[in-house]
Amino acid sequence: MHSTPAPLTDRFGRRVSYLRISVTDRCDLRCVYCMSEETRFVPRARLLTLEEIACIARCFVELGVERIRVTGGEPLVRRNVVSLLSELSALPGLRELTLTTNATQLHRLAPQLRSAGVQRINISLDSLRPERFRALTRNGRLERVLAGIEAARRAGFRRIKINSVILRNRNHDEVVSLARFALEREMDIAFIEEMPLGSIHEHDRAEAHYPSDAIAADLSRAFTLLPTTERSGGPARYFRVAGFEGRIGFISPHSHNFCDQCNRVRLTATGRLLLCLGHEHSVDLRQVIRAHPIDDTPLKEAIVDAMALKPQGHRFELRGVPVVARHMNSTGG
Ligand code: GTP
Ligand code: 5AD
Ligand code: SF4
Repeated sequence: MHSTPAPLTDRFGRRVSYLRISVTDRCDLRCVYCMSEETRFVPRARLLTLEEIACIARCFVELGVERIRVTGGEPLVRRNVVSLLSELSALPGLRELTLTTNATQLHRLAPQLRSAGVQRINISLDSLRPERFRALTRNGRLERVLAGIEAARRAGFRRIKINSVILRNRNHDEVVSLARFALEREMDIAFIEEMPLGSIHEHDRAEAHYPSDAIAADLSRAFTLLPTTERSGGPARYFRVAGFEGRIGFISPHSHNFCDQCNRVRLTATGRLLLCLGHEHSVDLRQVIRAHPIDDTPLKEAIVDAMALKPQGHRFELRGVPVVARHMNSTGG
């Protein structure tokens, strides 16, 4: 029997089964590694409508995508995002709908997100000290984020994952407390190395680099880390921790490249299909969907053809002008 190759397979034989959708580049926080102080957001008229996003997502699922993660910016500041999530979770063939958020809206939205069919939530949290949290996010209130995390747990979300971007001399001394915070609440935590996406002036990225191996060494003074081969469908390498349910992961784009396993592409809020986080290769799906609003065929063809543009991998350079001009908020975290 012949098995037909999956339509979404790239030149290197990697099957694309995971789509990250950024529904807005806007955010109520201004994390220092993510945005520059004077960030300008895309005018609303250039955004895909929620109907267009749902249509593109449906085409991806019909072409074999099994997992969708909704991100931003901060996805929960987009109006009516919950109805989009309900629509996505009902797509036949979709195995998992997940969300990445900064948690500032979760105190009011967590139960609705669960009813809408969101299965897992990843939450950004880089410090447990209110003053430091405010400095790292330029205006955020830690209290509100902690209330959001509690609301998500109360709403019944399991396997919540905390994402912490660790910067030398900013928050690297908090890795043990952040890990303890997550593990005591049966949550996973991923420690992320900062990536040079877009120019920032707040700190020198090379100086602030704090490698995953240094974090692992810090953590092993407080916990027993047991290596695993578990993956969550993302780039994190996970460790089990003796005495806890939750896991500790490391996302190490500099020190442990994971591109050979890449299974994902990203849709920006303006409809650009990005084939890799570390390159500018992209296809404008907004133009295709607006030229052919009724017929899915041209859209599906554009998606399949885009696979040929997926680069083999990224090589991030922390010094000098970043190769990628987009900031993370316009890329889709
Ligand atoms: P799950 O493993 O499904 O829980 O998700 P995830 O870890 O992929 O998603 P999340 O939104 O929590 O992403 C965390 C961070 O991982 C992102 O913000 C990026 O820093 C990093 N990341 C995710 N995908 C890629 C990728 O394709 N390339 C690189 N270099 N980094 C990625
Ligand atoms: N490098 C690494 N991670 C980043 N994030 C935002 N900007 C960057 C960057 N330049 C992270 C956020 C969030 C996730 C979606 O992306 O902290 O956890
Ligand atoms: Fe907003 Fe997330 Fe960027 Fe922070 S990292 S500014 S929470 S989009």
